[in-house]
Amino acid sequence: MDEFFSHRDGELRCEEVPLAELARRFGTPLYVYSANAIRARYRALVEAFAPDPPLVCYALKANHNLAVIRTLAALGAGADTVSAGEILRARRAGVPASKIVFAGVAKTDQEIRLALEKGILQLNVESAQELERIAAIASAVGRSAPIALRVNPDVAATTHDKIATGRKHDKFGIDLAEAPALYERANALPGVEPVGVHLHIGSQILDLAPFERAYGRAVELVRELRARGIPIRRLDLGGGLGVRYGDEGPADLRAFAALVRRATAGLDLELVLEPGRFLVAEAGVLVASVIYLKEAGGRRFLVLDAGMNTLVRPAMYGARHAIAPVRAPRPEDEILRMDVVGPICESSDIFGRDYRLPRLGPGDLLVFHTAGAYGMVMASDYNSRPSPAEVLVDGARFAVVRPRREPEEQMASERIPPWLDDPGRA
Ligand SMILES: Cc1ncc(COP(=O)(O)O)c(C=O)c1O
Repeated sequence: MDEFFSHRDGELRCEEVPLAELARRFGTPLYVYSANAIRARYRALVEAFAPDPPLVCYALKANHNLAVIRTLAALGAGADTVSAGEILRARRAGVPASKIVFAGVAKTDQEIRLALEKGILQLNVESAQELERIAAIASAVGRSAPIALRVNPDVAATTHDKIATGRKHDKFGIDLAEAPALYERANALPGVEPVGVHLHIGSQILDLAPFERAYGRAVELVRELRARGIPIRRLDLGGGLGVRYGDEGPADLRAFAALVRRATAGLDLELVLEPGRFLVAEAGVLVASVIYLKEAGGRRFLVLDAGMNTLVRPAMYGARHAIAPVRAPRPEDEILRMDVVGPICESSDIFGRDYRLPRLGPGDLLVFHTAGAYGMVMASDYNSRPSPAEVLVDGARFAVVRPRREPEEQMASERIPPWLDDPGRA
């Protein structure tokens, strides 16, 4: 992805556009996405599976900006959604309903109705209760819902505990042992048509062996279901492919495609993948400004205008992003060790200790690499700081795809109830 974020004339650019110029125009913190980096990732994934690529349903949860979804939809991507809001976003961005899968952990009746109205490809069912609910709602509106059961293969992905989802004790999916009976039930129920098997074992996975184990178990289930006369035709393998945050990654696509081919050989299955992070993480950076360089308690703190309210992954998962100055370091620059922190009143508002960076001062710009996934989507108004603008760069063109929201706008939708109108009467 270095080709999309590289230094030229001493300045870091996204494609053809200097990040400093974007920061000047749109303020910091600022998220910047490279459209061509997103396209390159999508194409690499599809090409790894040539000549028979799966349907790639982009997991909107990674970055749900309409312009990002549209960039992928224009290449033929579908959407993996987890809420009514995401289904609406996918449709608004131009993803056909026939390429949308819906995998929410707790789908409400309203959401199930919306999915049925839109005629999406598949609902991924998380529990026996949900199966009954979908069947009842679909029957009531005279439809049949194409479904897959999300099975829990009891495989531990080699990743952070908080983003592993395929172990027995995780809240996701249906025990493999219970799946055949539930498929029998689904097959007998009016209102649902069991067409697929779904699994997703976690996120930021670079060691491919757990995928192979989990897919093997899913394929065994497909065989068993077919033997019982339940005509499963689709296998939705979930997302999870890892990316490069530091020296590791990204996931080896050729090896991944080969293991999927091995696991599914001879079964004539329609395959679906649900990558989120893999498609967009490295295509995005967060640009931040230095507010202070502070020395205290024997440490040196680089204090930024971006914090856990802007990029929560370090505080939430202990994730570490590569950080670099926007101005190319010069050989004579003094390199210092510093703890990079945000402005939020929480001790957990720290991006990491002992970053090695040139001496920086107020107003200098930094980038956080690999910030395109689970960045802006998890940002919050905590501490009432402006929420960052998002910019999409495409060659030499760029556009604000979500404007910065100042505190006035954040407050605009809030109301003071009438009985509090007069503080004297409260
Ligand atoms: C069901 C499902 N599919 C796909 C994804 C996307 O994962 P990733 O961004 O790691 O590809 C997730 C993420 O949690 C998920 O829960």
